[in-house]
Amino acid sequence: MPNTSCIALGVTGSIAAYKAADLTSKLVQAGHDVHVLMTGSACELVQPQTFLTLSRNPVTTQLWNLPTWQPEHIALADKAEILVVAPATANFIGKLANGIADDALSTYALSHTGPVLVAPAMNPRMWQHPAVQANVKTLKARGVVFVEPAEGRVACGEAGTGRLADVPEIQRAIEVQLACRSLKKSKQSPKRIVITAGPTREAIDPVRFLSNRSSGKMGYAIAEVAAAAGHDTVLISGPVALPPPAGCRTIDVTSAAEMAAAVKAEFAEADLLIMAAAVADYRPADCASDKIKKGEGNLTLELVRTEDILRSLADLKKPGQAILGFAAETRDLETNAIAKLKAKKLDWIAANDVGRADIGFESDRNEITLFATDGTATPLGRHSKLQLAAKLLEAVAARKNR
Ligand code: PMT
Repeated sequence: MPNTSCIALGVTGSIAAYKAADLTSKLVQAGHDVHVLMTGSACELVQPQTFLTLSRNPVTTQLWNLPTWQPEHIALADKAEILVVAPATANFIGKLANGIADDALSTYALSHTGPVLVAPAMNPRMWQHPAVQANVKTLKARGVVFVEPAEGRVACGEAGTGRLADVPEIQRAIEVQLACRSLKKSKQSPKRIVITAGPTREAIDPVRFLSNRSSGKMGYAIAEVAAAAGHDTVLISGPVALPPPAGCRTIDVTSAAEMAAAVKAEFAEADLLIMAAAVADYRPADCASDKIKKGEGNLTLELVRTEDILRSLADLKKPGQAILGFAAETRDLETNAIAKLKAKKLDWIAANDVGRADIGFESDRNEITLFATDGTATPLGRHSKLQLAAKLLEAVAARKNR
């Protein structure tokens, strides 16, 4: 099922305006209904026709576009679920911070009541200017989300912080904001949430290890959504190929033993632990100090059990703390998940069918059913991992509030 959110995309007069064309294309490909608003300076750099073609929607460049009876900005404000301004110039940031509405985009921005995401792009000295930084601070305090500019060489030849963040990073930030809208609206009191993600690696020798197919996508999605919803979020991650999620403190670990130590240390101050990591149940009894040489015959590895992290935590759990585990199963999903819920003394378990190719390991989508200790089962459906992460956190909050 594709995402179908209505997105208002503001494009301002930075040379990075051409990258907004790529962003528009990517958002449309992801299934979104994109409506572009351009400032006069942006129109000097990129033709509105480019955005018209890519978005398949009219492009707003002026306040008074005949022949609609309703001003464009009011009509769009009624349906857009998020306003994204990418690239955002110092001028636009200043106007938004101070409530100035003197063109179609800045006027629209004041009529938009949903989430606002701003991706600045400007000369590094301009970005560092106290006036710009003060405006950014004002907007952040008002809940505007920033995708921070990147470091590097900018168009004018200078090096520093001011480049527009990469398009995939902006797109991901938009998807995170869209996923956590209802979670944000529910205004939960901020909690400290510890989340684990990814696989562990159990060393056989200096160049080989035992591991599994976990990509970390599920755990990272939960961490991104929890942080975006305002929770103090700690992510403990096994080795994955994903960038550290925005707004989280990320602790990198490799083995099950390292993950156990990190989880125990962080759980002491946590309200909620979510173990989405695929922790190895066994490790080689010994790790060879040199690369094992190939011999004539077969090689037998002795494997020993790793610590069951969740089971250990059950004995350390204090009143008010809650623990959610995942059960990765290829058969008898419900029976096995409920058995793990009981054996590990959890508050909830998310039953995850990892025998299916369209969900689970590595996929961008997943489907889980949440089982609670009181015997209730809550199917959360099949969604993108970001959307599912928001549904999981909502379901947990709803049950905790009972
Ligand atoms: O990372 P992705 O590619 O996005 O894939 C997501 C996922 C399939 C890895 C994830 O959704 C998932 O199902 N995670 C749990 C994987 C797993 O190890 O399940 P399990 O049934 O073997 O373990 C049950 C629970 O005990 C898990 O919460 C696990 O983190 C925990 N555990 C396991 C072993 C161990 N030594 N200590 C533990 O605490």
